[in-house]
Amino acid sequence: MASTMQSSVEDYLELLQNTPQETFCLLDSVGVNVSSFFRDTGVFEAVSDTVLPRLIAGISQNKSKELRVWSAGCSHGEEAYSVAIMVKELLKKNPDNVKPLIFATDMDQTALMTAKTAVYSRSSLEDTKLGLVDRYFTQDGDVFKLKASIKRMVHFSTDDLLSEECIAPRESLFGDFDIIFCRNVIIYFNNELQERVLTRLSHALAPGGYLVLGMTETLLGCARNMLETVDKKHMIFRKPN
Ligand SMILES: C[S@@+](CC[C@H](N)C(=O)[O-])C[C@H]1O[C@@H](n2cnc3c(N)ncnc32)[C@H](O)[C@@H]1O
Repeated sequence: MASTMQSSVEDYLELLQNTPQETFCLLDSVGVNVSSFFRDTGVFEAVSDTVLPRLIAGISQNKSKELRVWSAGCSHGEEAYSVAIMVKELLKKNPDNVKPLIFATDMDQTALMTAKTAVYSRSSLEDTKLGLVDRYFTQDGDVFKLKASIKRMVHFSTDDLLSEECIAPRESLFGDFDIIFCRNVIIYFNNELQERVLTRLSHALAPGGYLVLGMTETLLGCARNMLETVDKKHMIFRKPN
């Protein structure tokens, strides 16, 4: 209200209803965008050591060559790019077999613009192995610029997880993801909204696909029947085949 010089809630509401751009400004100002590369390293190790090799092996055996990943609530892109780095490292061994398609969405357009720029502070790389920093970033003074080879692996777009319009982000064409990361997003929602998002994500998973939640989040509602727990410690769940 202060930034738009409105002195009453009623006036602000009227402004909000008449100015679509203000909706984005409001969402930007109330959103929590805290993130970092390989946040909760144990989770990324579990995904890299167990989940991704299983998915890649399964894909290599089948006709489908795509490894479809969705980072839902991606903030400034750290999570999606961490996954891209892991996949790149794993695919060094069989580069031709699997085509990674990584979609990253957020409702916060400003965060997405930062994500596409892919320039990060040292602190956002605190949990990243030195070898990976050397390989995939270029240091420029105080900042670290992600290399194009990783940037071009991730497709960013706007998506409101609470929207009931479609299950998966439009740009992904359809659901059927092999793995969805939705970490530290639903923690801000009440139980009813958590259930709605979890149901949506469960539908967007391919049979045999994985859902990775934040360390303090868990399954609620229908999703509990649709998914099985794979790794309770790291909050990794799977949709049975
Ligand atoms: C704390 S960040 C988490 C970033 C990353 N997933 C991680 O774990 O580091 C939460 C993100 O969720 C996004 N978010 C919140 N509600 C959302 C919604 N309804 N739809 C899409 N994104 C949402 C916020 O804009 C913010 O960027």
